[in-house]
Amino acid sequence: MHSVLPHFTNYDTLKHLAIFASGGGSNAQRIIAHFQTVPDISVSLVVSNKKQAGVLEIAREHGIATYIIDRAAFYERTDMLTVLREHQIDFIALAGFLWLIPQYLVQAFPQKMLNIHPALLPKYGGQGMYGMHVHQAVRASGDTETGMTIHFVNDQYDAGSIVFQARCPVEPADTALDIAHHVLVLEHRYYPEVIEGVIRQVSL
Ligand code: GRF
Repeated sequence: MHSVLPHFTNYDTLKHLAIFASGGGSNAQRIIAHFQTVPDISVSLVVSNKKQAGVLEIAREHGIATYIIDRAAFYERTDMLTVLREHQIDFIALAGFLWLIPQYLVQAFPQKMLNIHPALLPKYGGQGMYGMHVHQAVRASGDTETGMTIHFVNDQYDAGSIVFQARCPVEPADTALDIAHHVLVLEHRYYPEVIEGVIRQVSL
C-alpha cells in the first residue's frame, strides 16, 4: 500500500560525512550536491590543508563547517580526531587531498574512508602520482585506456582495497589535458553514489 506518512529524517540515524580536499573541489561540489538530496546522510565538515583552497568557499556557500589543518597538527598530534568527533563524523571521503593519511586516522576509520584516484590503480599510483603527473604518464605510456579508481584508504598512497573503477578510452590524438577531462567526468559521475553505497553497506 502506498504510504501517506510524510518523509522525515530521523536524526538519531543521520550519518555524518567529512570531505578532505586540497584543491578546487569539483568532486567535493558534486558530493555536496548529491547528499543534499539524501535525507539520512549529511556532509557535515570539509577539511583542507590549504587556506586558499576553492573547496572551502564551496563549503561555506553551503553552510558546511570547515577546518584547516596544518602539517604538525596532522602528523604530530591528534587534533584532527578531536575535530572529527566534535562533528560526529562517521565516514570520510578524500577528494583531492594530497597528504598521506597517518596511521591513527586510518585506525579510527577502518573501511570508513574512501579516496578517488584519477587512473586505473594499481597503475599510475603512489607518491608523486597526482594531478597532471598521472595523465602525462598515461599519455607517455601508449595505454589505450585509463579511468578512475575509488578505494579504501590505508597508510600507504593509493594502496587500499579497490571498491570501484570506471574506464575511458585514450585516443591517439588525446593530450594529457584531454585525458584529465575525460577522467574527471567519470569521477563526477560515480564518486557521490559510490560513497553513498559504501556508507550504506558498512555498519557505522
Ligand atoms: C581528482 O582528479 C581526484 O582524482 C584526485 O584529485 C583531483 C581532485 O580534483 N585525487 P577536484 O579538486 O575535485 O576538482
